[in-house]
Amino acid sequence: MNCSREIISGVYWIGASDRRIELFENIFPVPEGMAYNAYLIEDEKTAIIDTVDSSVTRLYLENIKGIIGETAPDYLVVNHMEPDHCAGIEDLCQLYPQMKIVGNAKTFQYMSQFYSRNLSERFYEVKDGDTLNLGTHTLKFIFAPMVHWPEVMVTYVEDLHLLFSADAFGSFGALSGNLFADEMDINDFFWAEARRYYANIVGKYGVQVQSVLKKVLEVSVEMICPLHGPIWRRDFDTFINKYNLWSQYLPEKKGVLIAYGSIYGNTQAAAHILANQLAEKGIRDIRMLDASKTHMSYLISDIFKYSHLVLASPTYNSGIFPPMLNLIHDMAALGIRNRKVVLISNGTWAPTAHTAMQKMLAEMKEMEVITDPLLLKSAIKPEQMADVQRIAEKICDSLNR
Ligand code: FEO
Repeated sequence: MNCSREIISGVYWIGASDRRIELFENIFPVPEGMAYNAYLIEDEKTAIIDTVDSSVTRLYLENIKGIIGETAPDYLVVNHMEPDHCAGIEDLCQLYPQMKIVGNAKTFQYMSQFYSRNLSERFYEVKDGDTLNLGTHTLKFIFAPMVHWPEVMVTYVEDLHLLFSADAFGSFGALSGNLFADEMDINDFFWAEARRYYANIVGKYGVQVQSVLKKVLEVSVEMICPLHGPIWRRDFDTFINKYNLWSQYLPEKKGVLIAYGSIYGNTQAAAHILANQLAEKGIRDIRMLDASKTHMSYLISDIFKYSHLVLASPTYNSGIFPPMLNLIHDMAALGIRNRKVVLISNGTWAPTAHTAMQKMLAEMKEMEVITDPLLLKSAIKPEQMADVQRIAEKICDSLNR
């Protein structure tokens, strides 16, 4: 069977989608499945660009056969050695004994770590900026370390102005026949999934993403072919602009994310009262998420989106309620910064969640706690409404600045 597609003369998409997968990387929910893209360039020399996840390797190998039949590819370019893209390397080596593997020193280091078989005789090592002529087309290798692993490189086809961008510009979600973003309904759901993918997969590496963006913007790009999600051949300025914001930890929206943990509903009630006050003051962009029942990846994605953050937590084991503790820990691990924060803390006998949250936030960069926390003893009381008003006004003032 052959399910490949020619995306531009002589260049084929040879990837596949997996809708059985529940958790990408065994951690991130993918309700719409996952696409693993790979590509093949037919020229005087044939080059395959990356392999795929083991779940779809059979389809990938059939796609290759469907295009080149019994001939053999000359090169396999490995832009990324993470197993969702390198699971087919040994299969290809078995099928094509003469095929060279194009990568950098780190690519080959990780290859020898993942595989027992010695593939070193096939290695064709490239350095940043090196080129490889295939006949008509010339590939240029641009190193993109930490987007998302140290060995990552992107491959630019100079005459076609086509960029194989590795994990960059990828998204969660399977493909449904249409490969190009301009053939699809690129709606709010798509952008939410693209942001969730970025924030959780490469969100930690903003500085490195900025550096790759600079390199990419130096060359003329007419088509972006990522390893996940749709291919972009027009209107990708929106995506580049979003990458520019996300990688500088700049919010996309002036708005408020209220993330709360609540054991019996009392902390949640206070969070709702604050949300109502914000709404009455005309704030439109308010999002509330229960940290206990919202997967971390969605919370992190919305933290990348919004400028203001309310964190509400009961005190638990003399500290922060575990779902909220995990969230703040993940925020710190991903290097999130530059957000305005308000805290709500609850406790029946010793409310200390706010001091623990303040301590964690103080260790992060540019996380500004804009007012004193709302302190609850078990449940919010009528006399505390003025305090909620004070917090709502502070948030509004800060939003309007
Ligand atoms: Fe899609 Fe970093 O692998």
